Amino acid sequence: MRLPSGCAAALLLCPGSLASQKVLTGGHSQNPLDDAFERFALETLGKFHVPGLAIAIVDGENTWAAGYGNATLPGTPVTPSTLFYGGSTTKAFTAAAFAQLIDSGAHPDLSWRTPLASLIREDFELAPEYAWAQEHLTLEDALSHRTGFPRHDKSLSTRYGPDGHKATMRDLARSLRFLPMVHEPRVEFRYCNLMFMVASHVLQTLTGRWLGTTLREGIWRPLGMNGTYFSLEDAQAAPEHLAMGYWWDYSSNRSSKNGGGYGEVPFAGLDEASGAGAVVSTVLDYAKWIRCLANEEEPLSKAAHAAIKTPRMTPVGIGKGWDGPGSYALGWMVNPYKGHTVYNHAGGMEGYGAEVFFLPDLGYGVVTLANTAMTSNMAGKTLAWKLINDKLGVAEEDRYDWAAAGKKSIQDILSSYDSAVDRLYPERTEQPLPPALPLQKYAGTYYHPAYQNLTVQVDEATSSGSRQSSEPQLKGTRPNAVWDVSYEFEHVSGEFWAIFMDMTKSPNWLSGQVAKAEFRLGPDGWPDKLVVEYMEDGTEGVITYKRVE
Ligand SMILES: *[C@@H]1O[C@H](CO)[C@@H](O)[C@H](O)[C@H]1NC(C)=O
Ligand SMILES: *[C@@H]1O[C@H](CO)[C@@H](O)[C@H](O)[C@H]1NC(C)=O
Ligand SMILES: *[C@@H]1O[C@H](CO)[C@@H](O)[C@H](O)[C@H]1NC(C)=O
Ligand SMILES: *[C@@H]1O[C@H](CO)[C@@H](O)[C@H](O)[C@H]1NC(C)=O
Repeated sequence: MRLPSGCAAALLLCPGSLASQKVLTGGHSQNPLDDAFERFALETLGKFHVPGLAIAIVDGENTWAAGYGNATLPGTPVTPSTLFYGGSTTKAFTAAAFAQLIDSGAHPDLSWRTPLASLIREDFELAPEYAWAQEHLTLEDALSHRTGFPRHDKSLSTRYGPDGHKATMRDLARSLRFLPMVHEPRVEFRYCNLMFMVASHVLQTLTGRWLGTTLREGIWRPLGMNGTYFSLEDAQAAPEHLAMGYWWDYSSNRSSKNGGGYGEVPFAGLDEASGAGAVVSTVLDYAKWIRCLANEEEPLSKAAHAAIKTPRMTPVGIGKGWDGPGSYALGWMVNPYKGHTVYNHAGGMEGYGAEVFFLPDLGYGVVTLANTAMTSNMAGKTLAWKLINDKLGVAEEDRYDWAAAGKKSIQDILSSYDSAVDRLYPERTEQPLPPALPLQKYAGTYYHPAYQNLTVQVDEATSSGSRQSSEPQLKGTRPNAVWDVSYEFEHVSGEFWAIFMDMTKSPNWLSGQVAKAEFRLGPDGWPDKLVVEYMEDGTEGVITYKRVE
């Protein structure tokens, strides 16, 4: 597979077309993005079914970048200037913006250890049983995923309130009071996007302006990151091409929508993602960011660089592929590798995956941006680790096989649904009891003040979807969810069910999830509650929806 321009290797080396971007700076050493690397990159994209990927390397004075494959099918190639969603690589910018705000002295009482409740008093309210956490959880806790709250991603909504107004960061923050914690504060690492939205609300409240403006003025413009955006509208209006997001249909190899088994993921709005994941950017711009971080340059002060690099939560992860368990700094995973400290963060959106790495002691870093969910991260890690290991001179036999690990995890995820009921209900009876009521009686709208409406219906024709069944089934929808997820109920016994959830716009089960569910019948014999325990990185706590219709 060759790129159409005939300028296949590193697009950046093409004279003319991209010369004005000065992407090849320095020039004292060999460009690692050579023909052999291009072959490896295209092979990796094929292996993981990723249409296209952009990559940039920062190495001392040098920046190299290239694009491989397609940004938009058919045939719009990826270049180093292609825009991709950066997902959670946004979090590092949010943390850096706080570091600048603390540095500025505009809010003398603001520090990493300032309690959130003192910053957004009436908006940072937790359930009554978490009184200690409400008074003591700090900015630092929120930015290092150690508050004790799980993700609750499925509660995030685009609309709130009886008037159904468009979600604000304040609405998202105020949903906390209805949500369960699953650990004591500062005990376990639990990744929580919602806390970065709370942080966005704090920052926007203190500065009185949109976080996108704060980031542009404080970080992106000083670094010359002019191809970096914080809303879908701005990214679509940009001079750079915004890559389409795709999903690969694993259920069959037949050509689905765009040939080759790829389906398009419609562009997602980013207003609710904010400081947790709203950045859209290019590898060229991320290279500037990595250079700033790796070399501790302006516009961040030395104190800011030190603060965002300081690990705040450990251990994080089991260290596969690393030389030991990791920690979480402010928006960064920190891991030991061959005597170096590696900072890394992944980003994922429905249809996109980003990987950012930097090694401050070497002034070295790599970024990949690509256009599928999850598999882009596997491909990105495979490519980034080849470059990092080459840079460090690690022998082939001492290298972790990131590609094999990625392939295995795809297989593990896709096969995990078969055993999901056993995992959710290990104690269940071998002779299941029938449900108390005909299916139709369970249909209705169930409401939780944070997760909001879950509408349950009987789906007679269930030949669609990946979990096929010839019997009628209960199906659920969550209107206005930020993550548009379908709920498919599988009966277990009596009033107990398993829920299989998949992304409705990329339904290949790669980002699917499961939950335990129980319908509770009221004294009138009607189901008046739906009790759901979502299982993401472990339990998300018990969510009780009350029937409203
Ligand atoms: C990009 O798209 C073109 C046209 O559909 C196709 O021929 C080519 O193989 C694609 N490249 C990759 C790397 O998938
Ligand atoms: C980015 O935009 C600013 C303001 O318009 C301009 O001064 C600067 O030269 C631009 N930087 C790059 C790298 O394009
Ligand atoms: C789809 O193709 C892959 C190879 O690309 C193969 O491993 C897999 O078994 C195929 N799946 C089906 C359902 O045919
Ligand atoms: C939830 O469902 C109820 C009953 O159908 C409806 O009255 C209400 O407007 C819905 N709320 C939202 C936010 O959609």
